[in-house]
Amino acid sequence: MFPGAALNLDELEQLARERLSKMAYDYYASGARDEGTLRENVAAWRRIPLNHRVMVDVSKRDLSTTVLGIPVSMPVLIAPTAFHRLACDAGELATARAAARSRTVMILSSLSNTGVEEVCAAGAGAPLWFQLYVYRDRRATEALVARAEAAGVMAIVLTVDAPLFGRRERDVRNRFHLPEGLRVENMTAAGHADVPERGAESGLAAYIAEKLDPSLTWKDVAWLRSVTRLPVIVKGIVRPDDAVRALDHGASAVVVSNHGGRQLDGSPATAAVLGSIVDAVRGRVEVLVDGGVRRGTDVLRALSLGARAVLLGRPILWGLAVAGEEGAHGVLEAVRDELDHSMALAGCARLSDATRDLVDAGGIR
Ligand SMILES: Cc1cc2nc3c(=O)[nH]c(=O)nc-3n(C[C@H](O)[C@H](O)[C@H](O)COP(=O)(O)O)c2cc1C
Repeated sequence: MFPGAALNLDELEQLARERLSKMAYDYYASGARDEGTLRENVAAWRRIPLNHRVMVDVSKRDLSTTVLGIPVSMPVLIAPTAFHRLACDAGELATARAAARSRTVMILSSLSNTGVEEVCAAGAGAPLWFQLYVYRDRRATEALVARAEAAGVMAIVLTVDAPLFGRRERDVRNRFHLPEGLRVENMTAAGHADVPERGAESGLAAYIAEKLDPSLTWKDVAWLRSVTRLPVIVKGIVRPDDAVRALDHGASAVVVSNHGGRQLDGSPATAAVLGSIVDAVRGRVEVLVDGGVRRGTDVLRALSLGARAVLLGRPILWGLAVAGEEGAHGVLEAVRDELDHSMALAGCARLSDATRDLVDAGGIR
């Protein structure tokens, strides 16, 4: 079911690696510094035992749900990742079409190679959320939000874990930059569109250091809410107290995330902190999670810990690299199949059957 006849996402990544330039593969795959958080994100899910129930009628299973009131066919969404045209020519248009076919949400990165209007049009039917990086140029940031809102996105996802970019040593070695012809299309009008080669460093890290605002604080969530009517989702939380602060400042949801291990190396695996954040939020808003989700069983673990849905980052990029729109769609459908299968084996007919006792033996009586 995975593209390229891969049996799983590890095999798919190897196929993607053969098709991508070294600069593109390393940019997608890498984490910060020693890449400890990157590895731990994957490993931590796998360490959580699933206390499967038996003798439950699982002959019919339902994976559909809602996120922020939006119906989706499964609790698996597309995380915002930059520069999809490094993976295939159609880039973000292919991703949006795949999301529409799988009836799920795509979160479009600020740093996309395709403008938000085009992506909204291509994904006709797919609910699109827009991920925002706040530029030092606040006028340009406001214009960007207005542009996304006018294009028809349904929420703004404010990324809060990137005051500077993490140091990704593979990008430094490759002197990562966007190849000729590719730009940050959402920022063309504001003159912040080029990520050129920069001496002996990552051109993207230099771009971010120059352009993004490292002075962001919680009061800026209120500022953002004042410039848009859309719900604001805060992405990049790993602490219960920060989750509560986000809600107190008006966030409509939080994403537990360490940016796929690309920011602070040493930041905890999201699987390790999700449960305590869900507990602190006490049902006031929905909690989403990403980082290292590679199996349907990982999705089931996240739901059992209380997440409303998970986001997939790199797996979508591997799908795009191997087979474009078909590839990204294939990844979503294969993860759906895995989730469906693991729900059956765990004694869950509905998503609401994925309760804490499935992952926490202390909860079993
Ligand atoms: C190549 C790449 C680019 C990314 N670009 C962004 C981005 O532009 N904005 C953002 O908020 N997160 C970005 N992320 C982080 C993802 O949204 C997500 O948190 C992470 O990829 C989830 O982990 P996973 O790749 O293990 O699934 C990026 C991640 C990758 C791998």
